[in-house]
Amino acid sequence: MTALTLSTSSAAALRADAVVVGLAKGPKGPRLAPGAEAVDAAFDGRLTATLETLGASGAEGEATKLPAPAGVKAAVVLAVGLGDAPEDGEGYDPEALRKAAGVAGRALAGSKKAAFALPIAGAADIEAIAVGALLGAYSFTAYQSQNGSAGKGSLGEVAVVGAKPRDKEHKAAAERAVAVAEEVNRARDLVNMPSNDLDPKAFAAQVQAAGKEFGLKVEVLDEKALAKGGYGGILGVGRGSATPPRLVRVAYKHPKATRTLAFVGKGITYDSGGISLKPAGHNETMKCDMSGAAAVFGAVVAAAKLGLAVNVTGWLALAENMPGGNATRPGDVLRMYSGKTVEVLNTDAEGRLVLADALARASEESPDAIVDVATLTGAMVLALGDGRFGIMANDDDFRTAVHATALAQGEDSWPMPLPKQLRKTFDSPTADIANMGVRPGGGLIAGLFLKEFVGEGITWAHLDIAGPAFNEGGPFGYTPKGGTGSAVRTLVGLARRTAEGDLL
Ligand code: BES
Ligand code: MN
Ligand code: ZN
Repeated sequence: MTALTLSTSSAAALRADAVVVGLAKGPKGPRLAPGAEAVDAAFDGRLTATLETLGASGAEGEATKLPAPAGVKAAVVLAVGLGDAPEDGEGYDPEALRKAAGVAGRALAGSKKAAFALPIAGAADIEAIAVGALLGAYSFTAYQSQNGSAGKGSLGEVAVVGAKPRDKEHKAAAERAVAVAEEVNRARDLVNMPSNDLDPKAFAAQVQAAGKEFGLKVEVLDEKALAKGGYGGILGVGRGSATPPRLVRVAYKHPKATRTLAFVGKGITYDSGGISLKPAGHNETMKCDMSGAAAVFGAVVAAAKLGLAVNVTGWLALAENMPGGNATRPGDVLRMYSGKTVEVLNTDAEGRLVLADALARASEESPDAIVDVATLTGAMVLALGDGRFGIMANDDDFRTAVHATALAQGEDSWPMPLPKQLRKTFDSPTADIANMGVRPGGGLIAGLFLKEFVGEGITWAHLDIAGPAFNEGGPFGYTPKGGTGSAVRTLVGLARRTAEGDLL
């Protein structure tokens, strides 16, 4: 990944390929953001006017490159839009800094080193700029013979100007940024990896390797262990595939921890729909259906890298949902790990089946809270669009806390209800419940189904990331095309808050 350094030298004096400055939208036209002073001086104070003449307005997403004058060591100056300038006396919104840094990280693909001279009012801004730049610089080129279709590598080094490498808070902010960005990017890599290379077995092997590297305890239940344990949901979904399912437990423990969080991820390495086969047009991106498991995996590793004083256990419910001679049929009844029976009316509602077993198993360890993450329903995408995930919970205060944590990390989300009246829509004439209810409120019905498998008295939240997990459009801000690493930052934020005694 792109390297991160902190630099106290002047933006003009720093040896780099490019220097990044911020341009904000003021009431009377664009204005340079603090941090750009030395560069502006080298332009004889005419940088704002030059940028305006070139058509820059300071709008979010804007990137304007111009040759640097004598007096600036770097060859190129890149001005990125910060959106509306803050009111006098107020700082820049961290998300505006993340997005602008992300645009720069992307625009400088192929460069060795860039100096980021964006406005910094404190350590939180250093973290925001670093996270944005490292996430924006991400590219997935593993399957391209030329190291990227454009033949460029990603930006080699991000130097944050105005941050002091010897300042404890600045250093900690940088370390957090690196750990979080690395793990968001790990999740993105896993999501982008095609299903022919990332099946349940290969995914489990990656967790085992990371477990060795970061001192995590990893247990993998294979198909035999799943059968012995009675995991009817996970087995029922995986039966149609040539590659059998897995349940992975990956645990990070801290000796001083007083709280334990359980994160549960949907890990359908490919969702064809099964016998209720998805039509063409709905299956091209379904390698992304393990995004929840990828987010959980990344979050547990990030907690370990940061040494957070909290125990975090990740549960990855891995299966490939395929039609086949041995596949579960619509109408079949599964006996779940919890003992409940489920009539499978639609094999494409598979995520809730694998999660049900993982939630019931996670509940046995009585964690202080469970958060599950899943690309669960198309209905949630219709409700909220593809830019934000829905949050459901069995505790209103916890749902509010999860929402606030997501917002603070720059992850768009929205609280959703679990209406009691919808529970009876998945009654089954044959079994305890069915895996599908009516169409209206489909995302909430899926949430209500999961709630049936959460242990009595355990605080639980469910994040339906079907919208934001995979970006089918072009890149924007620090979000690339393809896998986005959705929910990793929210989970790490929750773990951090819990470690700091600010939650649960
Ligand atoms: N993996 C899909 C949900 C999905 C849709 C994820 C779009 C990402 C983008 C899930 O397994 C699914 O197929 N859900 C069905 C449920 C229905 C059959 C009750 C859906 O949403 O249509
Ligand atoms: Mn499905
Ligand atoms: Zn699915």
